Amino acid sequence: MHVESIFRMPMFAQNRTMSTPARVLAVCLGNICRSPMAEGLLRHHIQTKGLRIKVDSAGTNGYHNGEAPDPRAQAEMRRHGMEIGAQESRQIQKSDFERFDLILVMDSSNRRDILALAGDREEWRSKVHMFLDEGDVPDPYFGGNSGFVKVHDLLNEAAASWTDKWRGS
Ligand code: 4NP
Repeated sequence: MHVESIFRMPMFAQNRTMSTPARVLAVCLGNICRSPMAEGLLRHHIQTKGLRIKVDSAGTNGYHNGEAPDPRAQAEMRRHGMEIGAQESRQIQKSDFERFDLILVMDSSNRRDILALAGDREEWRSKVHMFLDEGDVPDPYFGGNSGFVKVHDLLNEAAASWTDKWRGS
């Protein structure tokens, strides 16, 4: 294909809008395990790299509204020197599609729920991306501590990669 027409393809148009966001929202189901850890890790890598990007997190449901992160998530983060105990769970709102430039979801069911909330507004839908390049961040809520270790490691690697990309753009 001729090179100019390649650059008009939607994938490239989307990548242009992916250049360093000012505000990023991490989303999971309950906003007490995965997305609070993602928020803490993104903030850590953003600070380490000297970026100026605001980060928040939210859940697709409101079952845990107002709660601090799960003690197991707090403990795993503390093991790596990060304190996330002051975060409070909240449910995502439609207004978040206006307030944030990029919405990073933990799994495909989060993505389905968020896209349903976005409806047919392409401007909102295009802000929604998976946190991992490939696949879901597994939900650790009903398992043991090892699930939180795994989630930390997956999120840490992906947070490093996102922030490298933002630093370079
Ligand atoms: P999260 O984990 O989506 O990573 O915060 C969960 C937290 C709570 C529940 C499910 C998953 N719950 O069913 O209450």
